[in-house]
Amino acid sequence: MRRLVRETRLDPANFILPLFVVPGEGIHRPIGSMPPQAQMSIDVTVQECREIESLGIGGVMLFGLPESKDEQASGAYDDQGIVQRAVRAIKRELPNLLVVTDVCNCEYTSHGHCGLIVDGDVDNDATLAWLAKAAVSHARAGADIVAPSDMMDGRVDAIRTALDAGGFQKIPILSYAAKFASAFYGPFREAADSAPQFGDRRSYQMDPANAREAMREIELDLEEGADMIMVKPAGPYLDIIHEARQRFDVPLAAYQVSGEYSMIMAAAANGWIDLERTMMESLTSIKRAGADIILTYFAKPAAKLLG
Ligand code: PBG
Repeated sequence: MRRLVRETRLDPANFILPLFVVPGEGIHRPIGSMPPQAQMSIDVTVQECREIESLGIGGVMLFGLPESKDEQASGAYDDQGIVQRAVRAIKRELPNLLVVTDVCNCEYTSHGHCGLIVDGDVDNDATLAWLAKAAVSHARAGADIVAPSDMMDGRVDAIRTALDAGGFQKIPILSYAAKFASAFYGPFREAADSAPQFGDRRSYQMDPANAREAMREIELDLEEGADMIMVKPAGPYLDIIHEARQRFDVPLAAYQVSGEYSMIMAAAANGWIDLERTMMESLTSIKRAGADIILTYFAKPAAKLLG
């Protein structure tokens, strides 16, 4: 009877699993704070993607760790960059697996910030050109969706314009529209080697205290041409997800970030909570709040449980 009257159902088709691609071959390097997630070389990533596809998971989100970093984030928009090569390799073997790419510079800059540094701060407008070039190179490699996570103002318009000019009118933009300056990204910065070397991201990411501003950020991204929007993190921001669902009729994604994942894994490893139940409850709550798409490091175990 509970099954009959249940209001919210999870489906692996709505999950996206983030992956961290590194240079080299045969590499599977565990990320200490996010067991059993690992950095993987392209060949190992492709094998992983086979399993992801067979589990019915909606897609993957690729993050790249380049061979080298510089002030200009060159690796972010290089056609031979790590993400571009990974997309081509995955698409060659698994043409039907949905591949989303994270468009940002923080993994590629020597200082770890998401854009060009001018006078000690990120220069918003100068960074837009890098983002546009990166999105076009991802599309050229075969990405199905590009997802800018940098939080520069005007990036969706810049990316849309560049994609259209490059012949990629059909490639949608999933905008990290309401992305908060969150302490919950801690483990990710180890996984992606992207911690800022000075200062923090509060000049471009949002203040966790601001819900109205989040709606404004989403509205602006939609005006600029975003096809899908994202709220991030997810669990601590269910009110933002709920309000975005009420206001906007586009596909809504929520990113259950590294810290949300690591907290559950750590508590479960200590025997303090039940892993499966906590995992499913956290995901169900994000869906109940209104998210259509959930980016989650739990995608595989949750899909197995649902299957
Ligand atoms: C890049 C980016 C971050 C995350 C996704 N894209 C880190 C950050 O903004 O510092 C975080 C994801 C996670 O914590 O799982 N800008």
